[in-house]
Amino acid sequence: MSGEEKLELVRLAAVAGKEAYAPYSKFGVGAVLKARDGRLFSACNVENASYGLTICAERAAVFKAVSEGVQSFACLALSVPGGGAPCGACRQVLREFGADLPIFVGDENGEMRRELNLANLLPDSFGPESLNFP
Ligand code: THU
Repeated sequence: MSGEEKLELVRLAAVAGKEAYAPYSKFGVGAVLKARDGRLFSACNVENASYGLTICAERAAVFKAVSEGVQSFACLALSVPGGGAPCGACRQVLREFGADLPIFVGDENGEMRRELNLANLLPDSFGPESLNFP
C-alpha cells in the first residue's frame, strides 16, 4: 500500500473522529477499518455517563464491519490525539480477526504519526485458534 493511500486513510479516520461523542474525556478517536474487499468501516468512540459503558472507536469499527457481514481486514487507520496506540481491549478484539493487522496512526489533525502492527502490539496472543486443543 502506498504512503499516499495510508495517509488518505488516516485523514478519513480524523474525519470519523470529529463525530466522537466524548463529553467526559474530551478525547475524540476515529477509526477506519479497511476490509480486504476494499470496503471502509469508519467509527468513533462513544462515551456514556456510566463511564464503563464507553466504546472505543476501534471496537466500534470492528462491530460495524462484522455486523455488515465483513470479517476479513487489510488494515486499520486511526486518528488519536497525540498519536497514541490502541488500548488493550481493542487489541484483543482486533486479534479475533487476524494477528498481523497493519495499523496506521495519525493524530487529531490527520497527520501520519506512526505505523504499527497488531502482531507487535499483542505478542503471543490468545485467539480463536487457541481454543483448538489438543
Ligand atoms: N479510546 C478509544 O476510542 N480508543 C483507544 O484505543 C483508547 C481510548 C477512547 C475511549 C474514551 O472515550 C477516550 O478515548 C479516553 O480514554
